[in-house]
Amino acid sequence: MPSMQASRQELRTEQDVVRARQVVRKLAQEQGFSLVEQTKLVTASSELARNTLIHGGGGYMDMEVLSEADGRNGIRLRFVDQGPGIADMRLAMTDGWSSGTGLGLGLTGSLREALAVETPVIGTDIEGHPELILEGETGLLVPPRNPDALAQAILRMLENPTRAKAMARAGRKRVEAHFSMAQKVQRTEALYRRLLDARGRR
Ligand SMILES: Nc1ncnc2c1ncn2[C@@H]1O[C@H](COP(=O)(O)OP(=O)(O)OP(=O)(O)O)[C@@H](O)[C@H]1O
Ligand SMILES: [Mg+2]
Repeated sequence: MPSMQASRQELRTEQDVVRARQVVRKLAQEQGFSLVEQTKLVTASSELARNTLIHGGGGYMDMEVLSEADGRNGIRLRFVDQGPGIADMRLAMTDGWSSGTGLGLGLTGSLREALAVETPVIGTDIEGHPELILEGETGLLVPPRNPDALAQAILRMLENPTRAKAMARAGRKRVEAHFSMAQKVQRTEALYRRLLDARGRR
């Protein structure tokens, strides 16, 4: 498998991680990857670049375009750092925490909890999601059953972390103002009081 081109990208700062996502996206585009394939590669490289920076103390990413004899092209990404390394690979590959049962929150509940801790969210434009996600303000909404639209939204988030953070912050404010437990209890209490008052007047 002869390699056609190779290049190196330093990973020393948060800004480098953002740049790495951009160059991986560009290369995947140039190689004719579909939108969904681009997103998979950008998401994976984003995670590995962050690991290189956070756990490895910085390093670099090597990118290589590979071409098969049958004309298909691929991309090989290698992340290198001189940090402590991963002592127990199996442990590192294990999910950090999983309830296994989803805690009964449902998808809308998960989006709400994610926003409550200022994590940028993308949701499909169904059920309660639009109440929580104001498009472009507290997150991104995409039509259901549209992998390309979802891929596009993920890329938009990854490519503009400043905007993603701002939306997540606005989302947290929205959750606190309208969907917190305190708000829920207050509103339920107010409803009971109204009903009881109305009954008392009768
Ligand atoms: N480049 C690296 N050098 C040293 N340790 C690493 C490296 N990459 C991963 N690890 C170890 O593997 C663990 C799992 O990595 P993983 O990316 O799955 O989770 P995380 O970085 O801890 O959290 P998250 O990526 O969800 O923010 C890390 O917590 C770290 O201990
Ligand atoms: Mg990580």
